[in-house]
Amino acid sequence: MAEIELRQINKTFAKKVNAVKDITFKANDGEFLTLLGPSGCGKSTILRLLAGLEMPDSGEIIIDGKKVNDIPPADRDVAMVFQSYALYPHMTVFDNIAVNLRLRKVKKEEFTRRVLKTSKTLGISDLLDRRPRALSGGQRQRVALARAIIRNPKGFLLDEPLSNLDAALREKTRGELKLLFSQLGATVIYVTHDQIEAMTMSHRIVVLKDGVIQQIGTPHEIYNVPINTFVATFIGSPKMNLIHGKIDDDNIVFTLNKIPLFVLPGKDRLRKYIGNDVIVGIRPEDITVTSRSHDETHNAQIVLCELTGQQTMVTLHIDGLELKVIAPSSFDASEKLVGIKIDPLHIHLFDPLSGQKIY
Ligand SMILES: Nc1ncnc2c1ncn2[C@@H]1O[C@H](COP(=O)(O)OP(=O)(O)OP(=O)(O)O)[C@@H](O)[C@H]1O
Ligand SMILES: [Mg+2]
Repeated sequence: MAEIELRQINKTFAKKVNAVKDITFKANDGEFLTLLGPSGCGKSTILRLLAGLEMPDSGEIIIDGKKVNDIPPADRDVAMVFQSYALYPHMTVFDNIAVNLRLRKVKKEEFTRRVLKTSKTLGISDLLDRRPRALSGGQRQRVALARAIIRNPKGFLLDEPLSNLDAALREKTRGELKLLFSQLGATVIYVTHDQIEAMTMSHRIVVLKDGVIQQIGTPHEIYNVPINTFVATFIGSPKMNLIHGKIDDDNIVFTLNKIPLFVLPGKDRLRKYIGNDVIVGIRPEDITVTSRSHDETHNAQIVLCELTGQQTMVTLHIDGLELKVIAPSSFDASEKLVGIKIDPLHIHLFDPLSGQKIY
């Protein structure tokens, strides 16, 4: 497998839609790298640029150490799986899987051997005589993957391959794909707008918004050290709570709380923000609902409890704010007024103008 790299790539459609802007990242050999972002942020455009289906306005595309800007798609040796799977309806599953090898004049015994092996790996050996219309969405998806895998390419480009599957099959296939590509040692660039897929499958995630990279990091980094309010609220469900506040001489002061600076490790970084407004970010799991006590300065009103089975998502109103909190599944929803406790060591602080992380 190979490294796949983009250097300062720009792409504009019809002279006005600036689809991707100054995109630079590198997927290492054997890495599972995910492009994550909302609809229209440029994910598919980046894959199409890598595959050679679009030409960049500027910048370099490098596969396996070689600049490929001028190399046609067929010679780039990367396999793309489209969201729609793009199977040939008149061909059997066998022929759909073998089609690229046939085009390359691979001998019949050789491609037959490879089709049988790959279809066995993907659990579709008993479907080889069927046509795509006689397959379920999940089976079609495997055929499209088999067709990509059999080529033994330098890298895989997968555009939302699970989006047509129902929730249960999605979850199962997510794990299977992760395992399969790790066994192949494959370099994978995977596109999704599903944060759970991105978090569970990837070595690293590239978060995009409006064609611009916001952050590149491991799932752990993206979740725990989000670089701005966009990344902070795009990843995590329910979303991180964002609350306006201010840093005075010794405290971070916001509607719900006053957090003394001295309790925060690395607090010296905050000295230069003293006197400034800030946005305080708190993840729902870093707030605890307590029973209301008389010395409590705030009383939170429970407006909604949503039990997922494992946990209860609680929506609270408190001093004109709406807060999301994750409580245990055993949470007693009969209390209407409760207190809250915030874990100060897990707060995030952002600049209110730029949205960038300051702590
Ligand atoms: N051929 C095209 N002509 C004009 N605009 C285009 C073209 N292809 C894409 N765009 C625009 O470029 C932007 C990025 O599109 P892209 O398909 O890459 O988004 P995406 O992140 O894959 O979105 P989704 O999650 O909905 O698939 C969008 O604003 C889109 O409308
Ligand atoms: Mg897309």
